[in-house]
Amino acid sequence: MKIDSICCIGAGYVGGPTMAVIAQKCPNIKVTVVDLNEARIAAWNDADFDKLPVYEPGLADVVKEARGRNLFFSTDVDKAIDEAQMIFISVNTPTKTYGAGKGMAADLKYIELCARQIARIAKSDKIVVEKSTLPVRTAEAIKSILDNTGNGVNFQILSNPEFLAEGTAVQDLHNPDRVLIGGNDAEAIQSLVDVYGNWVPKERILTTNVWSSELSKLTANAFLAQRVSSINAISELCEKTEADVSEVAKAIGMDSRIGSKFLKASVGFGGSCFQKDILNLVYIAKSYGLHEVADYWEQVVIMNDHQKHRFAKNIVRTLYNTVSGKKIAMLGWAFKKDTNDTRESAAINVAQDLLNEEAKVAVYDPKVEPAQIQFDLGEQFEGVTIENNPYETCKNAHAVAILTEWDEFVTYDWQKIYDGMLKPAFVFDGRNILDKQKMKAIGFIYNAVGSSN
Ligand code: NAD
Ligand code: UDX
Repeated sequence: MKIDSICCIGAGYVGGPTMAVIAQKCPNIKVTVVDLNEARIAAWNDADFDKLPVYEPGLADVVKEARGRNLFFSTDVDKAIDEAQMIFISVNTPTKTYGAGKGMAADLKYIELCARQIARIAKSDKIVVEKSTLPVRTAEAIKSILDNTGNGVNFQILSNPEFLAEGTAVQDLHNPDRVLIGGNDAEAIQSLVDVYGNWVPKERILTTNVWSSELSKLTANAFLAQRVSSINAISELCEKTEADVSEVAKAIGMDSRIGSKFLKASVGFGGSCFQKDILNLVYIAKSYGLHEVADYWEQVVIMNDHQKHRFAKNIVRTLYNTVSGKKIAMLGWAFKKDTNDTRESAAINVAQDLLNEEAKVAVYDPKVEPAQIQFDLGEQFEGVTIENNPYETCKNAHAVAILTEWDEFVTYDWQKIYDGMLKPAFVFDGRNILDKQKMKAIGFIYNAVGSSN
């Protein structure tokens, strides 16, 4: 089937950028992105491109090029399903917060709602593409719903997990390491291969069976997160032994079998995917009785929790065992640079721990809205102040903690920050982005992750 109309259910961090790039690269395909969230759709349609709901470098230009031409954002889900030949499901699949599998399994209720809606509306054959990250064998459930509740039309299910990372989404979509398409029907697979074939070289489009594709996504995230937890585990050992984790990472990363990426010690990984997907993997392993497999992967999350909490503990210990009433300036709230996303950000855990110790926390992030920080902290937000200027944020602080690796933090006038702080002035660099020698020369007591002072 040659595809000329696509619908995507879910206009979030994946649906929005992914569909914008498909529309940009395939001007002959009409792409409609739909969502129940009216405010989100309104923001995607905003005349001011600074107000798009997702901040990603380069995204506004892509949307500018395609929106209104062949890219549309709408809340009319039924109409978009009806008109499309191919429907991507890109809704959220958060960790379950209730019932069996609470705190571990993926909550598939939004996926099931989409499947039922597609079944109800579709009056012609459709290819349904799983874009959301799903537990292995979810396609089976979707197929069963579509075939048993539909109007007798044919549905083909494909798995096409998304590997983009936030902050580099547009770059990743323009030039993916690989596109993965899992399916059982050669014709349906070819239809999607042809869509990506408009800009992705053929040799980078990998086709597999559906189950391998579903499981590959969880596995890729588990491996990436495992590398971060591995280097973070070593960072704690470095702090005790005068080894320097950056030097260790460089030394091991030059081994081509290990590779240099994802070896940056940090305050802990965040983001909406790593923890959720590993916990899901753990749950699936347990459900098959594979307890050693489950324990192995769960340790990646346990290590990450430890890293976040020990960062906060180190601040308290270093500030003479009390931060009560002391101003701590936190630079960065997003879970990584170049995104406004704060889901599972380590900054949230660190702030909570410091607020529990009665610190006065001041936050500055170049892209995160104050309302989001308030949402993330709930009632604890009372103890927090937000300035829109980093120098004000750090003024009269006992310590500055760096939680996100925003480039601008490196170029600040650190002498000026030092002059405005209480003495001794402490810096806790949770991302190892500042120059230790320069910071010490200014007079800071500088603490990095994974090296002794
Ligand atoms: P998100 O929460 O940003 O967006 C999901 C959107 O789906 C929301 O706007 C929500 O309103 C909408 N939605 C939910 N149910 C709906 C329904 N029945 N009808 C219409 N709209 C509905 O989530 P996200 O970050 O875009 O992630 C989506 C999926 O992609 C998840 O499975 C995630 O694991 C996966 N993923 C995310 C990333 C990432 O970097 N964020 C990367 C790869 C894969
Ligand atoms: C991740 C996967 O990389 C991506 O392929 C998948 O589609 C979605 O999940 P994302 O969470 O957006 O992407 O960002 P990523 O770059 O993977 O970073 C995740 C977290 O790990 C961030 O908090 C980041 O700061 C941290 N990290 C990453 C480290 O602490 N050290 C590293 O070396 C790399």
